[in-house]
Amino acid sequence: MTHTTLILGATSAMAEQTARLLAADGDKLILAARDPERLEILAKDLKVRGASEIQVLPPFDASKADTFDALLDEAGEVDRVLIAYGSLPDQEALENDPAGIRREMCTNFGSVIDLSSRIATRMQAKGSGTLAVISSVAGLRGRQSNYIYGSAKGGVILFLQGLRNRLQPHGVRVITLLPGFVDTPMTADIEKGPLFASAAKAGACIHKAITRGKCDVVYVPGFWRFIMWIIRAIPEPIFKRLKL
Ligand SMILES: NC(=O)c1ccc[n+]([C@@H]2O[C@H](COP(=O)([O-])OP(=O)(O)OC[C@H]3O[C@@H](n4cnc5c(N)ncnc54)[C@H](OP(=O)(O)O)[C@@H]3O)[C@@H](O)[C@H]2O)c1
Repeated sequence: MTHTTLILGATSAMAEQTARLLAADGDKLILAARDPERLEILAKDLKVRGASEIQVLPPFDASKADTFDALLDEAGEVDRVLIAYGSLPDQEALENDPAGIRREMCTNFGSVIDLSSRIATRMQAKGSGTLAVISSVAGLRGRQSNYIYGSAKGGVILFLQGLRNRLQPHGVRVITLLPGFVDTPMTADIEKGPLFASAAKAGACIHKAITRGKCDVVYVPGFWRFIMWIIRAIPEPIFKRLKL
């Protein structure tokens, strides 16, 4: 059985890798992103990889909430939605830039919960659907080097937890995706270490979570569950003294 999957932020490296696998399943893919030229190239590639149909939506910018309903209307009825966009700001530069903090919170939190709410209402009315959202392990504990990004992602985690609880009786699945370090354009300036996964590996984890998995909260890759278990177990009086 093939599905119709809407991907918001389809040009993200992790979304692209996930989309390749959904295309190979023969899914219909509906793509939305800011850059129409990159989206056209991606659409052609996914068609070659086996997608039964590709629909490209008008440019999608997470800061333009007044376009969201029209975008979802144009996508029409979908079985699955993957929210994949996000931005990783320079934490130090933001510390004295309240407007920048507001902008980043809008991209990584406000717009994500806005879209999730609109999608949830549509899926609830239909009585089925899967909403998968990429948050981050950064949202599980605040640390000095990225607590602005982390708090936005943490807010998304809590929001999805409540949404899952609300939608459970209505046949709608809500999946929280928690990647650790993934080698994508977002982390291009960060020195790579052994904990980094490739975008292809992350895409495979996300594809599995959406198509075959049963888990509500999925670490990407899975070993991050153990790392975060340890990090979260460190008592706050010790944690606050660490340089993380
Ligand atoms: N890479 C990691 O280590 C890592 C770890 C944990 C979580 N994540 C999360 O994983 C998701 C995917 O990121 P990625 O690593 O695949 O990075 P990526 O390849 O750099 O993709 C980021 C995507 O977000 C889009 N975007 C940014 N701001 C937007 C806006 N205002 N409106 C619409 N689209 C916007 C970008 O579009 P443009 O190309 O037009 O800029 C790009 O497609 C993000 O939510 C990120 O926070 C990443």
